[in-house]
Amino acid sequence: MMTLAPSALAYVPFVSVENMMGLVNHIGIEDFLKELAVYIEEDFKRWPEFDKTPRVASHVPGGVIELMPTADKSLYGFKYVNGHPKNTKTGHQTVTAFGVLSEVTTGYPVLLTEMTVLTALRTAATSALVATYLAPKNASVMAMIGNGAQCEFQAMAFRALCGINTLRLYDIDSKATEKAQRNLVARGFEVVTCRSAQEAVEGAHVITTCTADKQYATILTDNMVGAGQHINAIGGDCPGKTELHRDILLRSDIFVEYPEQTRIEGEIQALDDDYPVTELWQVMRGEIPGRRDAKQLTLFDSVGFAIEDFSALRYVRDKVAGTAFSERLDMLADPDDPRDLFGMVTRAEVAPAN
Ligand SMILES: NC(=O)c1ccc[n+]([C@@H]2O[C@H](COP(=O)([O-])OP(=O)(O)OC[C@H]3O[C@@H](n4cnc5c(N)ncnc54)[C@H](O)[C@@H]3O)[C@@H](O)[C@H]2O)c1
Repeated sequence: MMTLAPSALAYVPFVSVENMMGLVNHIGIEDFLKELAVYIEEDFKRWPEFDKTPRVASHVPGGVIELMPTADKSLYGFKYVNGHPKNTKTGHQTVTAFGVLSEVTTGYPVLLTEMTVLTALRTAATSALVATYLAPKNASVMAMIGNGAQCEFQAMAFRALCGINTLRLYDIDSKATEKAQRNLVARGFEVVTCRSAQEAVEGAHVITTCTADKQYATILTDNMVGAGQHINAIGGDCPGKTELHRDILLRSDIFVEYPEQTRIEGEIQALDDDYPVTELWQVMRGEIPGRRDAKQLTLFDSVGFAIEDFSALRYVRDKVAGTAFSERLDMLADPDDPRDLFGMVTRAEVAPAN
């Protein structure tokens, strides 16, 4: 009897949001962040092996929708991600994402996964990993300006990788700060809530800016930042959307993921196209120093690059293998005769409904 059941090749492992949450809690958030950081660092250290391009951005009313592809010799990955700063007003998230990992030899996907949660985790793991090279020694206090969806993930990663245990929170919306305070006190952080960004940065070794606003915002001005601090600037990640006053950039040593993309999207869009910046993969390979001395002001001008998502996809593929944290999705049409795609469809037409 003819069967219409999908063949083995039709199925792609799919990680739903429910399964991603299960996986994260099963591993433990801090261990997940630490293990993910190892994958990200591995991939940064083999940077030249990757096919790289600035992400493809479609600027749409209210925000941006982006595709972020990259590949090495055996795997290809891409992420779909949006950024819509006004979304939370209508109950939507600012950032949502999903992604695919494929084998390059056949082009067949080997993983389809939610990446909204995974993006928060990979962004935080990347920030904290970078801070292990750039933050001042024995940093323990971080200012967190912008207490939205990314905030707690950043805090958890900085504790797991850098030993940060005191957080100074500020958000223009006090409800966001209350939410972050509740979540972070429950996780054992010492939390200080602040009435201004100026107050938040006082005594901080690391300053994370993680706000969402589609404009040239000035979250930090030059007078607020002192020698020896490390700035982890997350929220300026789109043309026309930045967080730092230009004078801070001129005073900092600036570290970036992929200059070709950061010059379009990052804080450095305010500078000349040839303004010197340091590529983090070279720091991680030990080719260029990270922090050189206690007085240096360092800036990670983060925009989020495709290789970090590739690392996250690789990590999740490895972790879900052989577990119940993925399900099989009938995603690829796989006719018995590879050239008889049409026949497969028409046979389904005459087959009795099951
Ligand atoms: N660099 C990366 O890899 C990366 C990855 C993910 C998200 N992002 C960016 O990080 C930002 C935060 O993302 P999210 O998901 O947490 O967004 P979110 O909307 O959940 O939170 C943003 C918070 O910023 C606050 N805010 C806005 N303007 C502010 C200001 N002037 N001062 C203080 N707080 C202010 C808002 O009230 C809100 O609570 C976004 O801009 C997003 O695009 C960057």
